[in-house]
Amino acid sequence: MEDHRSNEALKVIHSRHSVRQFQDRPVDDALIKTILDSANRAPSAHNQQSWKFIVIKGDKKRQLAELVTEQSSNFPKPSSSILRMAARSIISAPVVIAVMNTGTLITHGTELFSIEKEKAADFFRTMEIQSSAAAVENLLIAATSLGLGSVWLGVLFLIKDNVLEFFGEQKGKVPGAPRGEFMAVIPIGYPLEAREGPKKKSLEYVVRYLSIAAAVTASFIVLSGCGKTEAQGRTETVNIEALGAVGQNSTAVRRSVDKVLNANDARNREAESIIGR
Ligand SMILES: Cc1cc2nc3c(=O)[nH]c(=O)nc-3n(C[C@H](O)[C@H](O)[C@H](O)COP(=O)(O)O)c2cc1C
Repeated sequence: MEDHRSNEALKVIHSRHSVRQFQDRPVDDALIKTILDSANRAPSAHNQQSWKFIVIKGDKKRQLAELVTEQSSNFPKPSSSILRMAARSIISAPVVIAVMNTGTLITHGTELFSIEKEKAADFFRTMEIQSSAAAVENLLIAATSLGLGSVWLGVLFLIKDNVLEFFGEQKGKVPGAPRGEFMAVIPIGYPLEAREGPKKKSLEYVVRYLSIAAAVTASFIVLSGCGKTEAQGRTETVNIEALGAVGQNSTAVRRSVDKVLNANDARNREAESIIGR
C-alpha cells in the first residue's frame, strides 16, 4: 500500500475530518469558488451534473440556523439535539453551502430508459443522490486541501421541506417541472481547534476478497502470459507471468493458480473471523 505521506492527494484524504466549530475569520470568495469548482468536477450519472450549490452568509445564514433551532423542538431526542448542534455549526461558520439535487435526471431520465416509469424514477433519483454525494465529497476534500474545515450536515433532511422552502426550491412549484431535493448543508470555515478525526474501521473489517475455486481449463495459453480459469460459472483472467508459470505445462500452471487462490481464501477466512461472519 502506498504511504499516504508521500502523495498530496492521499495526504488530504487522510487529513479530512468533520469540523463543527470555526474561527471568527472570513473565508476569501476565491477559495469558495475553487471549492465549488471542485465539487462541480465530480463524476455524475450521464454527466448530467444534477446538482445545485447555494452559498449563504451573514443574515441568510443566521435565518437558516434559526429555522433549524425552531424546527428541532418538533423532534424527540437525540434528533432534536443533533439538529440544534447543526444550527450551532451553521452559526459558527462564515460560509455555508447547501447542495440540492435538481430532479432533472428524474424528469428526463424516464424518457431515456424504456423501463417502468416508477422503476426509472427510483433509479434516476438514486443516481442523482449518488452524483451529489460525489460532489459533496469533492467539496470536503477541496476545502481540506485549502486549510479549511467543513462538516456534511445530513440531519437537515428531517426538515427537508422547510429547508427547500427556505432556499426557494419548494416542491411542485410548476406541475411536471423538475423538483429539487435536499442533499446536504455544509458549513465551511477555519477550524476553531486543530484536532484529528475519529478512528476508522480497519480494512480487514470492511473489505472482502472474493476468489474462485481453481479449476483451470484447457483455455490456458501458457506461453502468451495470460489465461483463463473457470469456476462457479464465472471465468476469470489470470496473469500467468505474475504467477511465474509461463512456459510450464497446464498441471504446473494449475498448481500455481491454486496457490494464489488458496492464499486469497485464507485471507478471506481471517477477515471473516475478525468480523464474526
Ligand atoms: C451522509 C452524512 C450525513 C451526515 N450528517 C451529519 C449531521 O447531520 N451532523 C453532524 O454533525 N455530522 C454529520 N455527518 C458527519 C459524520 O458524523 C462524520 O463524517 C463521521 O462521524 C466521521 O467523522 P469524520 O468526518 O471526522 O471522518 C454526516 C456525514 C455523512 C456522510
